[in-house]
Amino acid sequence: MTIKILMDTDPGIDDAAALTMAINDPNIDLKLITTVAGNVTVDKTTINALKIVRFFNQDIPVAAGAEQPLFKDFEDAARIHGASGMPGYEFPTDLPTPLHKTAVEALHDEIMASADPITLVPTGSYTNIALLFSEYPEVKSHIDRIVAMGGALGKGNMTSAAEFNVFTDPDAAAIVYKSGIPIVMVGLDITMKALLTHESIEELPKISETGKMLHDIIINDGDNSDSGIAMHDVNTIFYLLHPEAIKTEDMWIDVVTDGPAIGETVGDIRGAYHDGKTNAKVSVDIDAVAFNKWFLEEVRAIKN
Ligand code: BDR
Ligand code: CA
Repeated sequence: MTIKILMDTDPGIDDAAALTMAINDPNIDLKLITTVAGNVTVDKTTINALKIVRFFNQDIPVAAGAEQPLFKDFEDAARIHGASGMPGYEFPTDLPTPLHKTAVEALHDEIMASADPITLVPTGSYTNIALLFSEYPEVKSHIDRIVAMGGALGKGNMTSAAEFNVFTDPDAAAIVYKSGIPIVMVGLDITMKALLTHESIEELPKISETGKMLHDIIINDGDNSDSGIAMHDVNTIFYLLHPEAIKTEDMWIDVVTDGPAIGETVGDIRGAYHDGKTNAKVSVDIDAVAFNKWFLEEVRAIKN
């Protein structure tokens, strides 16, 4: 059975790789892409999403979303993702036009029109999703689950406590975690473990033009270590297709919205609060070898 998903994204190098897998894997039916300010401004993340859609000659609709977080000042991650957000490859310039509706309207319309359960896959900050729940609470009962990149039980990548997507808009993240919808937290605890190795990255351009495109943007990622490069957002798609390769634990996640720990996702691992209730499946371990193998297999299966 195909998994019907909507992606809310801020491409972004790893977002582009996640979109590549979601667009091309036959077991995923990507109905809509919405964009948000994050790695770079929303005008750029929207253009980048359109570039990926155009690269694969798809007609998946793209709708532009929030220009800034709900309350916090916007800070981009261009130091990691480059000024354009997706550097290193010459994409076609004849891009499709985004929808003439906002991300929130497009998400609402798609969710309410769907006869099947829908999975939301946010790979940027959760501003659009929080606005959607505030403006159209009726959508909540039509969403099967949210598989979200963001957060960490361990240390952050923006501050000692906070991961970038949650740090960007902690107020939105708090709304999403209190929404009552089942959430899978795909956080740094696994994404920093399943690095795409340099061996895998060097394999990519030998496969196809898609492999070359991914290689050329991935090697521009500013967060490059000797062991490889984190493909954070791609882990959401890997989870959807191979949940057996990712270990999760049920717990309650609270999001810190001010102070020095702003953006921290606090997992109630001792069950000290919330009367034993949980609001998330939190990913805690991953088969990194299987992730690398799968990543290359996905690219090999793409025709262009
Ligand atoms: C997250 O932050 C962004 O820079 C990446 O695209 C990913 O979504 C990782 O912390
Ligand atoms: Ca992202």
